[in-house]
Amino acid sequence: MDKILVQGGRKLKGEVRVSGSKNAALPILASALLCDGANTYTNVPMLRDIKSTLELLSHLGVRCEKQEHAVQVDASTLNNHDAPYDLVRKMRASILVLGPLLARLKKARVSLPGGCAIGARPINLHLKGLVSLGADIKLDHGYVEASCDRLKGADIYFDMVTVTGTENLMMAAVLAEGRTVLHNAAREPEIVALANALNQMGANITGAGTSEISIEGVESLKPIALDIIPDRIETGTIMTAAALTNGDVTILGAQPEHVQSIIDKLRLAGAQIDIYNDETIRIQGREIIKSVDLKTLPYPGFPTDMQAQFMVLMSVAKGSCLISETIFENRFIHVSELRRMGADITVSGNVALIKGVSTLSGAPVMATDLRASACLVLAGLVAENTTEVNRVYHLDRGYESLELKLESLGAAIQRVKG
Ligand code: EPZ
Repeated sequence: MDKILVQGGRKLKGEVRVSGSKNAALPILASALLCDGANTYTNVPMLRDIKSTLELLSHLGVRCEKQEHAVQVDASTLNNHDAPYDLVRKMRASILVLGPLLARLKKARVSLPGGCAIGARPINLHLKGLVSLGADIKLDHGYVEASCDRLKGADIYFDMVTVTGTENLMMAAVLAEGRTVLHNAAREPEIVALANALNQMGANITGAGTSEISIEGVESLKPIALDIIPDRIETGTIMTAAALTNGDVTILGAQPEHVQSIIDKLRLAGAQIDIYNDETIRIQGREIIKSVDLKTLPYPGFPTDMQAQFMVLMSVAKGSCLISETIFENRFIHVSELRRMGADITVSGNVALIKGVSTLSGAPVMATDLRASACLVLAGLVAENTTEVNRVYHLDRGYESLELKLESLGAAIQRVKG
């Protein structure tokens, strides 16, 4: 298994281009199941999760071709409705094929994704919505067995905001008969990106980006060419690294409006942040980082996927702060590793108290999930001596060559092939 070695103490300086969004690309790749013909996607990030999704689509009989950041997906040859455990277990977002398979083939057999390090992550709201559209759902031996005639539009109420739940139901409804309205829908930019893709394919969706999304069913969809939006979590991660190291970094190809809540918190922590020509963000750190309380919330609130990274910044800030994680029930796993590096963090339920310390000390640490691995790399940037981050396959699921991007900004960082 690869590991990453980071020598702390360098200020990040220079320019870096952010990659395409993992969490936009995954549902958009699944949406290719909804039509015959070749969909061409560009600015697709080169990640393990993208590779896993293309493996699953190929298993379903779909033709997938990938050249670097360009991907072509043609579901004309779709001939299998079974998404097996050994593929789904690699990536829980595989559940995003459920809605499209039902819409297209009127049947689907998809392994239940199971929990993961950050929480149980059930899919009950996905299934409840599909039943509202007329699907027959059975759970059998760890699989969702779903079937239907043509799905019929309905009013669907989400008991809680779910990103992939909203995406699954939007894709199930685009070919349904009549109107579907999703109430208490997720508002993330990735939802808007998916709705834009579906509308370009010929769907009729309005309200994406608000908590009420209407979908008028259509008879069929056609293939498209589409550029994937930039990754707002990678953008926030690099911004935080710049603030953490008192650096001066310019991020190219970003979408500032997608990271407003992150910009707000980093400014409160003392960073100077300027936006140019609506796709360039410059972050200048300050010697003194101020402690800032934080609560994670559904978009447009502060994203849970940035909580661990922001916690690193707060662990070397001047003062104390509280970080509340309201989305997942177990998303403080990174705390124990940060403590081993000298951070002063106390956890009580879903709230962490962070008392800033003057410095962290480098140590061998273990990544446990995608964003925790990013947080440990960031901690290494400011820790004394060397930090060795193990199990970086977690990192590779959601960041395209993060260590190369940070090295290009002056970090003393290297990957050791294992
Ligand atoms: C998406 O996961 C993202 N993944 C996650 O990013 C992100 O952390 C999360 O949204 C929240 O923003 C992708 O988009 C591929 P949810 P998702 O359904 O859709 C509960 C990353 O690091 N819930 O919005 O699985 C659930 O347990 C990943 O890139 C139910 O109870 O998250 C959680 O507590 C990690 N029943 C809350 O809702 C359901 O049926 C939000 O989950 C669905 C969700």
